[in-house]
Amino acid sequence: MEYKRLDNGFSIPALGLGTWLLGGGIEADYSKDEKNINAIKEAIKLGYLHIDTAESYGCGHTEELVGLAIKDFNRPDLFITTKVTDIHLRYNKLINSAKASLKRLQTDYIDLYFIHAPNPDIPIKETMEAMDYLVEQKIVKFIGVSNFTVEALKEAKEAQKHSDNKIVANQIEYNLLTRNKGRYGNNHSMESATIPYCQENDIIIIAERPLERGILLKPHPVMDKLAEKYNKTKAQIALNWLISKENIATTPMSTNVEHLKENLGAIGWNLSNEDMKLLDETNFERLIS
Ligand SMILES: NC(=O)c1ccc[n+]([C@@H]2O[C@H](COP(=O)([O-])OP(=O)(O)OC[C@H]3O[C@@H](n4cnc5c(N)ncnc54)[C@H](OP(=O)(O)O)[C@@H]3O)[C@@H](O)[C@H]2O)c1
Repeated sequence: MEYKRLDNGFSIPALGLGTWLLGGGIEADYSKDEKNINAIKEAIKLGYLHIDTAESYGCGHTEELVGLAIKDFNRPDLFITTKVTDIHLRYNKLINSAKASLKRLQTDYIDLYFIHAPNPDIPIKETMEAMDYLVEQKIVKFIGVSNFTVEALKEAKEAQKHSDNKIVANQIEYNLLTRNKGRYGNNHSMESATIPYCQENDIIIIAERPLERGILLKPHPVMDKLAEKYNKTKAQIALNWLISKENIATTPMSTNVEHLKENLGAIGWNLSNEDMKLLDETNFERLIS
């Protein structure tokens, strides 16, 4: 597995497994538990070490499925990330959320704990103090944020200026199609502002929704040409474009074993600089028009 690393010693597997809609969306769905647990176990056996979830996914049920899937593996080999919802960012609520996530995940620590989205009604200082407490208590190893703009990141970094627990990651919507048109947390300038800011400030970017839920796999002349040139699939090209970039990791979601294997084939090679530039400059809007 390839890793993305920061100078402060933080490292994260470049390709992880997303879990949104696995075990429900905004409500729990118990109907495919066996299939979903097996998919996560299969992913780990194939080499996925980084698993991304959230307390809100499936109303907590997704974390339960991750917990059931990982319990027979060696926990230190895995890198588990989860997220606290933006309505739980008050000091005590946040700590209770993290403890509830530990229970559902059947683990005693979270590798990287994200603030799922900023909440302008709750002072970021209070939220970051709770995050610091979780690190001090060894409940959380590293602190991350998600759907944070440059402005929100600056405020969070300011709140952490006297803390040793720096923000190491920002999980944001980013793929070949979304570029500067994110839908969450006012993240409209990912490529032009948020990503350069993170790269300059030692913050890893985790690109969420890397395949735009499959839309990027539709026919497109540039993708089709590159897939043929590299003898790779379009999913592998779309994922490689992300992880070939400085400090970008990503977590495609799949419960299909063939897709899980295919997506792993996005690592271990790199698109040429020329083809990276070609993709950078290609407009994929036609896929949704
Ligand atoms: N922080 C946030 O606010 C936030 C927001 C969005 C997403 N995320 C994270 O990012 C993860 C990824 O985003 P996402 O799940 O929304 O979308 P995604 O990874 O872009 O797409 C997932 C969809 O693509 C399909 N797929 C995956 N690999 C494929 C392949 N090789 N060939 C064909 N189809 C393939 C999957 O279906 P199959 O199961 O059939 O393969 C699934 O329907 C999430 O699961 C979540 O962990 C975080």
